[in-house]
Amino acid sequence: MAGMASLLTILLAATSVYAALDVDLDSANSIQSAAKVVAKNLLSYYHGDEPGQIPGILPGPPDSGRGPYYWWEGGALWGTMVDYWHYTNDTTYNAITTQALVFQSENSYQPRNWTGSMGNDDKGFWAMSAMLAAEVGFPDPPPDQPQWLALAQGVFNQLAGGWETTYCAGGLRWQAVWANNGIDYKNTIPTAILFNLGARLARYTGNETYAMWAEKSWDWLVGVGYVDDEFNVYDGAHYQNNCTEINKAQFSYNAATLIEGLAYMHSFTSSESTTTPNKWQAPLTSLTNRTLTFFFPEGIIIERPCELPTTVGCNTDQLSFKGYMHRWLATSTQLAPFLAPTILAALRSSTAGAVKACTAEGTCGFRWTTGEYDGSTGAGQQMSALAALVSLLVGGEGVGKPLTGVTGGTSVGDPGAGNGHVAVVGELAPVTTGDRAGAGVVTAVLCLSLVAGVVWMAMDETVPVMKRGKGKE
Ligand SMILES: *[C@@H]1O[C@H](CO)[C@@H](O)[C@H](O)[C@H]1NC(C)=O
Ligand SMILES: *[C@@H]1O[C@H](CO)[C@@H](O)[C@H](O)[C@H]1NC(C)=O
Ligand SMILES: *[C@@H]1O[C@H](CO)[C@@H](O)[C@H](O)[C@H]1NC(C)=O
Ligand SMILES: *[C@@H]1O[C@H](CO)[C@@H](O)[C@H](O)[C@H]1NC(C)=O
Ligand SMILES: *[C@@H]1O[C@H](CO)[C@@H](O)[C@H](O)[C@H]1NC(C)=O
Repeated sequence: MAGMASLLTILLAATSVYAALDVDLDSANSIQSAAKVVAKNLLSYYHGDEPGQIPGILPGPPDSGRGPYYWWEGGALWGTMVDYWHYTNDTTYNAITTQALVFQSENSYQPRNWTGSMGNDDKGFWAMSAMLAAEVGFPDPPPDQPQWLALAQGVFNQLAGGWETTYCAGGLRWQAVWANNGIDYKNTIPTAILFNLGARLARYTGNETYAMWAEKSWDWLVGVGYVDDEFNVYDGAHYQNNCTEINKAQFSYNAATLIEGLAYMHSFTSSESTTTPNKWQAPLTSLTNRTLTFFFPEGIIIERPCELPTTVGCNTDQLSFKGYMHRWLATSTQLAPFLAPTILAALRSSTAGAVKACTAEGTCGFRWTTGEYDGSTGAGQQMSALAALVSLLVGGEGVGKPLTGVTGGTSVGDPGAGNGHVAVVGELAPVTTGDRAGAGVVTAVLCLSLVAGVVWMAMDETVPVMKRGKGKE
């Protein structure tokens, strides 16, 4: 009897206290309704459209006392909202989305206010959202304002302008500003974004120069070992060791950015009338396979370096990564349909986990594998759940694949945008005596991190060996 009573208590608790978001994943209408609720909660984190606030950004940056979000996450938010519109046709947030993407676009997404945390990846995230707006036919801003395609081109040109070969034979540095911590870290994400934008601009414009840059970026990532033979995607390395001491943390956003870029290159280089494999098909297939195995071990995405079996050590940035994986895998199925069955199955099972991690009111947690809301709230968690929901609509009626300049895209470009605004030009300065002390400190930190990494790996778990937090200290 006692056993029965407690079972009943548990059942009641499960239905009343932990009731999950009600959604039928087989019904586009039901997904849209659930997405509407989750989107509303997501936008409750945004105040940039209120009097006296700054349009575009989430409350932050962390050291300001205003909130935990770096500038880049606003860019990621608006990309999510562009996709929300694309997949649902709900125009509720279109006006603030346009305002946000335009307001922060100063100086090719390198506004003066935010140089203290300006990474090449940060402006890259804004640029990928602008590119998406061009590709899905998100309404163009008035002609006297910056245009989506030109904004993406501007950031592309800046990133390409930051390519330097003195150390590690190429690649991009993490930070875009000399004074910032992380200027000596040459990592996957900014280079992956250059690859991603290059592939997309090539397909949208037909201009081979972009494809050439994409190929060069991919080849470098593989050559330096950030993408290894098994298609693990590692975080990066410091130039002082010629990028040989690789931080092997595998964050999902690195793999997601590359898979989508590969799918664009596959689409760009293959004609629909031929089945001849191109250079991109094999790595696309392998990276997708490895990614689904590694990040979706039980069919539900896990942010492996920081979402550990018993604890979550993800920082605010990392709490948002799952959504990019879901969105970019979804887009990849449109560009490389042969991957659709495998990818859509994973997106479906992962989203089922995500909605169970949301309350009935549409507040969504971070951990998706437990079947219940974990109480972890934030814009990143909310954005990821929204991304998971809307991405399931990818195969639905009326959802077009990314447009190009000849298949209905209307965004106006400017191939020369961004040139002349490069914050850090040319090659890294050689290590001088003055710099060496600094480099020594970095090396010491790196060694400690590697030791920590080894200890954790011995425990069959991985931890983020480098926090993404940045800025002057
Ligand atoms: C820069 O900061 C000023 C002062 O807070 C603000 O008025 C302005 O809107 C900000 N601009 C951008 C692009 O964030
Ligand atoms: C530095 O790394 C690059 C890329 O892996 C390699 O091509 C180059 O030979 C290395 N240089 C030295 C001096 O080891
Ligand atoms: C991934 O590749 C392995 C080995 O080639 C294969 O057995 C497996 O079915 C593939 N998984 C997916 C999801 O395609
Ligand atoms: C949204 O509306 C437009 C215009 O009516 C239509 O062409 C498109 O297919 C719709 N998209 C979805 C996802 O229903
Ligand atoms: C192609 O893109 C490159 C790189 O931005 C640019 O310099 C060139 O002018 C573009 N060509 C055309 C025909 O638009």
